[in-house]
Amino acid sequence: MLPRKLLLLLLVAVGVEAGVEFAYEGFPAAGLSLDGIASVTPDGLLLLTNDTDLNLAHAFHPAPLRFHRTSSFSTTFVFAIVSELNDLSTSGFAFLVAPTSRDLSSAMAAQYLGLFNASDNGDARNRVFAVELDTVRNPEFADMNDNHVGIDVNSLNSSAAAMAGYYDDATGAFRNLSLASREPMQVWVDYDAAATEITVALAPARSPRPRRPLLTTRIDLSTVVADTAYVGFSSGSSIVMCRHYVLGWSFSLDGAAPALDHAKLPKLPRIGPKPQSKTLAIALPMVTTAAVLAAVGVGLLLLRRRLRYAELREDWEVEFGPHRFAFKDLFDATAGFKDKRLLGTGGFGSVYRGVLPGTRTEVAVKRVSHESRQGMREFIAEVVSIGRLRHRNLVQLLGYCRRKGELLLVYYYMPNSSLDKHLHGHGHALDWAQRLRIIKGVASGLLYMHEDWEQVVIHRDIKASNVLLDGDMNGRLGDFGLARLYDHGADPQTTHVVGTMGYLAPELVRTGKATTASCWRTGCWGTGGMAPLSARWTRS
Ligand SMILES: *[C@@H]1O[C@H](CO)[C@@H](O)[C@H](O)[C@H]1NC(C)=O
Ligand SMILES: *[C@@H]1O[C@H](CO)[C@@H](O)[C@H](O)[C@H]1NC(C)=O
Ligand SMILES: *[C@@H]1O[C@H](CO)[C@@H](O)[C@H](O)[C@H]1NC(C)=O
Ligand SMILES: *[C@@H]1O[C@H](CO)[C@@H](O)[C@H](O)[C@H]1NC(C)=O
Repeated sequence: MLPRKLLLLLLVAVGVEAGVEFAYEGFPAAGLSLDGIASVTPDGLLLLTNDTDLNLAHAFHPAPLRFHRTSSFSTTFVFAIVSELNDLSTSGFAFLVAPTSRDLSSAMAAQYLGLFNASDNGDARNRVFAVELDTVRNPEFADMNDNHVGIDVNSLNSSAAAMAGYYDDATGAFRNLSLASREPMQVWVDYDAAATEITVALAPARSPRPRRPLLTTRIDLSTVVADTAYVGFSSGSSIVMCRHYVLGWSFSLDGAAPALDHAKLPKLPRIGPKPQSKTLAIALPMVTTAAVLAAVGVGLLLLRRRLRYAELREDWEVEFGPHRFAFKDLFDATAGFKDKRLLGTGGFGSVYRGVLPGTRTEVAVKRVSHESRQGMREFIAEVVSIGRLRHRNLVQLLGYCRRKGELLLVYYYMPNSSLDKHLHGHGHALDWAQRLRIIKGVASGLLYMHEDWEQVVIHRDIKASNVLLDGDMNGRLGDFGLARLYDHGADPQTTHVVGTMGYLAPELVRTGKATTASCWRTGCWGTGGMAPLSARWTRS
């Protein structure tokens, strides 16, 4: 047996700390051990990711900690996720406890968060405990949505997860938080070894820790956390430039994590004016009729009626008159946008089935919210131009309607719903001949848009859910809400990148130029839907 003193000396010699507690308000002098692309900025911010190349990023407390099977621990940190794009971010990052023996260089970036790779995800030998702050929904890890907090034990398939948010102390009501909002937020993670209980709380920075935690789960970590383990943060970059910052961090073994003084935390770099584009404007959350109606005084039936059908009409719209629908007609056509008429909801709005009064034409009405009036005239002009496209493989856009904060696009109704429903839903399975016909149909529609029409129309959101099937099971490209028009031979302008995560061509994200080539490459709808961002793309 070694004398106790010698043992202690040995432990110090190999840099293991026992009974540790630390607090960093900014990291200039923390001496964190960084790997991959992680860095500490001159301002003292820990910056995990800062590129678009599928690189790993790890940052650990400099010395490994001595956990015991019976150790409780407590940690808190302030972070911010800052994407260059308004409506897209990459997968998030995680706080982790990993054994010193673990070689994190074989982990993968993007949705693997720098924690695991495709072959060791879920392997009990990993002995990794993590709390993920995830901003992309990855079906292969059974993620609940694209904005959640998860408790991960050896796996990206979380043991417990909750939508990002917190319970208000005063009212008990749940309040959503958007992890990728670019706003700093604070996380608290506690493990009580005696009760084998993990609790996780989240709140906007500078708010007190909510009394009711976001997540509580019982997991015995005594067989998970190794005796000697590193604590820190992990992430990985992906094709969207998205920076994961940690502003401050404290930790305690067998004690409560020291509180962080927000006044002492380094400031996030000022984020310049958000790039504005007209298409962005429609990507904002929907304003529901209910909310509009709720604002109206009860009992004022006439006023209510007027508001119910109220539209936004401006002088410049006269020239688009024939393409403009009256809101009342759309309201009546869809039975008041009733839930049972809802065909689907996507990131950009909800689609309702309807029958136009008079002509009895079956239509699909897409309601998208838009706040800004900026660029609205050009946008409507484009909508109307796109309405002039005529091709058997395109879903005909019939017209539009405008309300305060809301835009409605009217399309012909496609009876066989969208391709994704048949590929992964409960629709009837498609045979290869049908699939080939659908693919050829979409290709032919694209050729028309790109080459044969008077202008070049770039769709920018080609994916299975935007391929509709008509009565004869022909594939028709639909949903032109993000489409752009260019003159033939013109150089596409750099724009705000829009589209759907998982379907964006890497060069589109880098150059910001939507071209006919990137438009087609985004159409990876043959791979089985939500194709995760994967190394395949940049490597091939
Ligand atoms: C991100 O990386 C680039 C290139 O290495 C560098 O110029 C830039 O300063 C970094 N950004 C931050 C916020 O550190
Ligand atoms: C995955 O990570 C493990 C370590 O946990 C490593 O042994 C293995 O080689 C990695 N696999 C791949 C395909 O990189
Ligand atoms: C993770 O969840 C996915 C989807 O449910 C499942 O297919 C996969 O087997 C799970 N993996 C692990 C390691 O639990
Ligand atoms: C919170 O987010 C969920 C999912 O996005 C949404 O259904 C819900 O209405 C939101 N709640 C509030 C109060 O914003």
